[in-house]
Amino acid sequence: MKSENEVAQRVETLLGQMSLAEKVAQLAQIGGADWNFGPKAEDIIRERGAGSVLWLNDTKKFNQLQKIAIEESPSGIPVLFALDVIHGYRTIFPIPLAMAASWDPDVPEKSQVVAAKESRAAGIHWTFTPMLDNARDARWGRIAEGAGEDPYLGAAMAAAQVRGLQGEDPTDPERVLACAKHFVGYGASEGGRDYDPVHLSEAQLRNVHLPPFQAAVEAGVATFMSAYMDMNNVPANANRWLLTNVLRDEWGFDGFVVSDAFGVGNLVVQGHARDGRDAALRSLKAGLNMDMASSTYLENLDGLVEDGTLSGEQVDAMVRPILAAKIRMGLFEQPYVDEALLEQVAALPEHRQTARWSAQRSMVLLKNEGGLLPLSTEQQNIAIIGPLANSMEATEGSWMVFGHQPAAVTVLAGIQAKLPGANIAYAPGPDINRDVPHPFGEFNLSERKPIQTAEEAEVAFQTAVATAKDADLVIMVMGEKADMSGEFASRGSLDLPGRQEELLKVVSAMGKPIVLVLLNGRPLSINWAAEQIPAILEAWQPGTEGGHAVADILFGDVNPGGKLPACFPRSGTHAPLYYARTLTHLPEDNPRYRSRYWDGPTTPLYPFGFGLSYTTFAFSNLQVSAPQVKVGDSVTVSVDVTNSGQVAGDEVVQLYIHQKWGSDSRPMRELKGFERVTLQPGQTKTMTFNLGPDELRYWSTNVGQWIQDAAVFDIWVGADSLATLHADLEVVE
Ligand code: BGC
Repeated sequence: MKSENEVAQRVETLLGQMSLAEKVAQLAQIGGADWNFGPKAEDIIRERGAGSVLWLNDTKKFNQLQKIAIEESPSGIPVLFALDVIHGYRTIFPIPLAMAASWDPDVPEKSQVVAAKESRAAGIHWTFTPMLDNARDARWGRIAEGAGEDPYLGAAMAAAQVRGLQGEDPTDPERVLACAKHFVGYGASEGGRDYDPVHLSEAQLRNVHLPPFQAAVEAGVATFMSAYMDMNNVPANANRWLLTNVLRDEWGFDGFVVSDAFGVGNLVVQGHARDGRDAALRSLKAGLNMDMASSTYLENLDGLVEDGTLSGEQVDAMVRPILAAKIRMGLFEQPYVDEALLEQVAALPEHRQTARWSAQRSMVLLKNEGGLLPLSTEQQNIAIIGPLANSMEATEGSWMVFGHQPAAVTVLAGIQAKLPGANIAYAPGPDINRDVPHPFGEFNLSERKPIQTAEEAEVAFQTAVATAKDADLVIMVMGEKADMSGEFASRGSLDLPGRQEELLKVVSAMGKPIVLVLLNGRPLSINWAAEQIPAILEAWQPGTEGGHAVADILFGDVNPGGKLPACFPRSGTHAPLYYARTLTHLPEDNPRYRSRYWDGPTTPLYPFGFGLSYTTFAFSNLQVSAPQVKVGDSVTVSVDVTNSGQVAGDEVVQLYIHQKWGSDSRPMRELKGFERVTLQPGQTKTMTFNLGPDELRYWSTNVGQWIQDAAVFDIWVGADSLATLHADLEVVE
């Protein structure tokens, strides 16, 4: 590993050799895909080099472009190849929302270790992961890509992903650079509509939206990506307060920031900048190092320096961290990739094993009336019904790397493999489709089936009903297709799309044992199913090994232990909905004022942190090490958790606090500790958590800074955000 001194010296030597045109090219990330507009990547690289190339997923082409950069460009500086490797490259892991549902940071960490290894073997140096946007509005499609609604859980998952992707040693040839995105507030778009404006107070930003990003900085994340939308009327891609004051000056981030795609050019479209020249100037002055794909820096920065609007030093300052990242990771010494490596790496059996383990740990048991689950492996006559039951795309989920061929074990295939001798009938029922097609649908050839006519859908419906009639047990696999969550995939309703609920009702009326397996990338308002279907497993979009993992859980080889990382609203119109709201003058636990709407309850269908197990757990003996402490001091909170059921299982012990008064009103509950623990039947473990200034402080609107108040705190510990085991803690001056 090079010392930071060596890195800095080499950066200055390079800067001394580079022309202005070359420096500006280091600030450009250029599209390498065939469909990319503008000059060809190789021509730009040959003429002046390039900071990075994205949207290319072709190992041979990486080497070809790199050869041009090294042998033909003026200073021979290698290119960083970047791609969105969100939840796996060849081996696909559960979507990030699902991994957060494991409440086990080892799950995203170990999954991203594999994703890094495979993508690096393909020649990729840098992935635009992790997405750290807090999402409290399930209508927002990109909730699938993050850790859900909570900043504390989000921060833990953020750090874990950075560790997994980057490792400890920047020269590790099996890791990639990570990118904390989208900085910041993107998940709070009005109405959950992708890209719409965001208005957040400084207190909301600092207490809720910034913590996962700060955790990523503390974990050493190499890069950041700024967000698309207007944040308090200033586009995040040109927001100096965010990119310089907070990120660099306060947090000491010394990596580089890339815009979101076309974000610099979009400053004009967004009605913020007058023209490209103005846009380049605003973004650069705000602290944005690299322009993703819009060519606005390439086209305008040279002129801005030449006419004296920008100084050469301002450009150099933006180039430095990009060169430093290339030097630190050893790109100058090892610019090429072995073209035979990927196939060997992707075939490693531990990759599939990690994917299966990760999927098992991510799933959440939402209901299990009468202990219907686990099912007996003696089951002989099973119907598997639903449009997602045999869909590899829906099993892998949203956001695959370019050119990825879906290859997941579907739920149907997983159950067939588990019960080779059983009679398993399958009927998809009617297809489900978006009303407005996905803008990238044309790239997703395997998803492009002709839309069913109403008659065809009816035949499919009746076939599914007949298939269920012949079975002794029905497993319905429903939810959302891969293109129904993610980017360009926000929606107004959170209901099961299409005729799925109608089919569920008809099949359920047959009175047979029935299990609902959900494959989806966001909370869904499955109100009817929650009432009427005895067993429901939230399997999310579980990845390559998803079908095996579902079968492992349904047939009892694995006891589910995941918990919801976001609450499930009863309706899309109830979003945004989250547990950590402040109280009001009429708290909802008052029996007279239970709902904020007169047309139904506004409590979530399933609360944050919720999830069942095949066993039961009891919490007791909640102890706080001291009833009273001084501001700045810490206490230990301990609790006994016992497996009170018949089988081994996992519980996620969750600690929540509420500050009863103070400089500002504080949320009625806030997660401040959690741990997933495995217990044998009858076994008890004492879990301990620390509560100190880090957990008790907050950013105060009234005071205008981070503070810790002297006040009394409620403490609850239990199995979800409705935990009732309670203690008080008094903090005094
Ligand atoms: C997305 C980013 C992504 C980038 C590059 C944008 O549309 O918002 O999350 O990393 O494209 O593909």
